[in-house]
Amino acid sequence: MKKLFLLLPVLIIFSCNQDKKKAENVAIEEPIKRQDPHSFSNPEQCIVTHLDLKLKVNFTAKELNGEAVWTINNTQKVDEVIFDTKGLNIEKVTLDNQTDSAFFALGDEEEFTGKPLSIQITPQTKKIHIFYSTGENAAALQWLTAQQTAGKKQPYLFTQSEAILARTWIPTQDSPAIRFTYTADITVPKELLALMSAQNPTVKNETGQYHFEQKQAIPSYLMALAVGDITFKAIDNRTGVYAEPSMLEKVGYEFADMGKMVNTAEKLYGDYRWGRYDILVLPPSFPFGGMENPMLTFATPTVIAGDRSLVSLVAHELAHSWSGNLVTNATWNDFWLNEGFTVYFERRILEELYGPEEAKMQEVLGYNSLMETIQDLGEKSPDTRLNVDFTNRDPDGGVSDIAYEKGYFFLKNIEKAIGKTQFDSFLKSYFNEYAFKSMTNDRFLEEINTKLIKGNEEIKNKINSYAWVYQPGLPKEFKAPVSTKFKQIEILQKALNTSKNPVGLSNKISSTNEKLYFINTLPQNIGLNEIQAIDKEFGFSNSGNAEIQCAWYTLAAKTKYAVAYPPMKNFLINVGRRKFLMPIYKELIKTPEGKKLAKEIYLSARPNYHSVAYNSIDNLLK
Ligand code: BES
Ligand code: ZN
Repeated sequence: MKKLFLLLPVLIIFSCNQDKKKAENVAIEEPIKRQDPHSFSNPEQCIVTHLDLKLKVNFTAKELNGEAVWTINNTQKVDEVIFDTKGLNIEKVTLDNQTDSAFFALGDEEEFTGKPLSIQITPQTKKIHIFYSTGENAAALQWLTAQQTAGKKQPYLFTQSEAILARTWIPTQDSPAIRFTYTADITVPKELLALMSAQNPTVKNETGQYHFEQKQAIPSYLMALAVGDITFKAIDNRTGVYAEPSMLEKVGYEFADMGKMVNTAEKLYGDYRWGRYDILVLPPSFPFGGMENPMLTFATPTVIAGDRSLVSLVAHELAHSWSGNLVTNATWNDFWLNEGFTVYFERRILEELYGPEEAKMQEVLGYNSLMETIQDLGEKSPDTRLNVDFTNRDPDGGVSDIAYEKGYFFLKNIEKAIGKTQFDSFLKSYFNEYAFKSMTNDRFLEEINTKLIKGNEEIKNKINSYAWVYQPGLPKEFKAPVSTKFKQIEILQKALNTSKNPVGLSNKISSTNEKLYFINTLPQNIGLNEIQAIDKEFGFSNSGNAEIQCAWYTLAAKTKYAVAYPPMKNFLINVGRRKFLMPIYKELIKTPEGKKLAKEIYLSARPNYHSVAYNSIDNLLK
C-alpha cells in the first residue's frame, strides 16, 4: 500500500497516459478529471470545506510557520487527498486526533504550479493537520524592512495570493472553483497589527495574537494576510480604511465616498453579502493597484492622489465583491469573467456617482489601452481571445487588457443589444443564482443563450458571442467609444500642433482623465522643445499623481526627455506597482542607452519589488 501510495503523485502528473496506467495495473478506476490546469488537487474525489490556520509570523527568519488544519469531504471515499504546495517545508501530517504521522509524499516540482502534496487518508478521515513552514522567497509574501514603509520604524508583511500563489504560504487545493470557510490564529510581534480577508480587529492588542473568522466560503486566491504598524479610521457604519499612522488621514479623505459606493453597488446588483467593506492601503511596493480580498481590499498608495481622482480603483475592487468573490472564474482560463464583469460594474458605479461623462472617459482610456494591447500581441494572436488558454503557462500572464477591456466591451455590447434595464435584471439574478459558485466561459454563454437570446436571431447576431469570445482581435462591426470632453482635447491638440505654444492650456485641461488623454495623444514625432514647454505649463515631471507620472515618464523615455529622468528614477525605485513599471521599462529598453539606464535603475529598484513585479521585469530586461 505504502509503495503504491508513493507512486501515485508521479502517476497523477502523467494522468493523461491512461494506457500506461492500465499496463502498470494501478488501482484508479475513474480517470481523474483535471478541469483546472493549474492545480494538482483532486476535488472530484476529496475536497476541502474548511480551514483552521495557525501561524507564527517570524520577521527575523522571514518565515511563516505553524499548522493548517483542513476539514475534508471525501465524496468518493478515496485513500488520498492532494493539495497544492510551492516551496513549502512540510514537516509532519497527522489525521483527526491521531498523534502518529500519516503517510505523505511531495511530487516533482513543476515550473509554475509547484509540487502536489499527496496524503494518505481513509474514507473516515475528517481532518488533516499539516505542520509546515514557508520557504525562502515564498512568492506570495513580501517582507518589508522598516525602511520600506511610510513610518520607517516597523517591518511589514503582506501576501498576494492571486492567481496561484496561495500555495506558497498555505498548503491548499488551490483552484478558484474550490471554496472553503476559515478561521485563523496569527501570532505577530506585539508592536504590529494583523489583518486578513476576514472579520478584522481595529486596534492592536497586548498579546500579538489575533483570531480571524471568514464565514463565507472563499477560494484560496482570496486568502490574505497583512502585518504591520497599521491603524484604522471609520468612514461610516460598515466601511473604513486601514493604513500606517502617517497615511491614515489622507487615506480617509481620499476614500470618503466608499460608503456611497457600496450603497450604489447594492442598488445595481443586490445586497453586499460580506458584512464590512474596508480598504487597507499598503506600502508602495504592493505590486497591484488593488486586490479584492474579501471584506478587506488591499490597495496601492499610488491611488492616494490627494484629489480623489483615482478612486475608480475602489469601485473596481468593491465590484469584485459580486463579480469574482461571489461568482468566481472556475479556472484561470475563465479569468475574463472575473475582470471584464468587474470593469463593467466599476463603470456603472462611476456613472451613477460621478455622471456618464466620467464613465465615458474611463471607457475611452480603456479602449485606447486595449488597442495598444491588441497591437502588441498581434491582431490574430490567440491570446487576444476571451477564452485564452493558459495551460502550461503562468496564469499571471492573463493579466492583460484582453480580460479587462475586451471583456468589458463584450458585456457592453450585450447591454446595447438587449437594453440596459433588461441586462441589469439579468445580472442581478446572475449574481444571485451563482453566488458562491464558479462560472466557466461556456456556462456563461449558455446563460446568455437561454436567458437573453432565447432563439431570437436578431439579438443573437447583435451579441455575436462567437466573435467576441472565440475569435482574436475585435469584431469587425465594433465601434470605438467617444467622449465629448476628449473630443475637445483633440481640438486643443490640433491648435497646439500649429502654435507650438502650450501656455494657458493647463486651465483648459485640468482633470486627471483629461491630462492622461492629452499626454497619450501627443503626436508621435513631438520634439524635445515642445515637451519641455508642455512640462513647464503642466509640471508633469513632478506630478504627484502616479497615473500621470507613469504616462509622462513613458513619454519621456520614448523621446529621451532627460529632465524627467531623475523623478522617473525615483518613481521606479519607490513604486512597485507592475502596471506602472512595465510601460516605462519597456520604453526604456528600446534603445541601447535606454537599456543601460533601465538596468542601472533596476539594480537599486529590484530589492523593493514584490516577486510578481520582479519576475515580469526580470523577463523584460534579460
Ligand atoms: N484581481 C485583480 C488583481 C490581480 C489579477 C492580481 C490577476 C493577480 C492576478 C484586481 O482586482 C485588479 O484588477 N487590479 C487592477 C485595478 C484596476 C483595474 C482598477 C490593478 O491592479 O491595476
Ligand atoms: Zn480586478
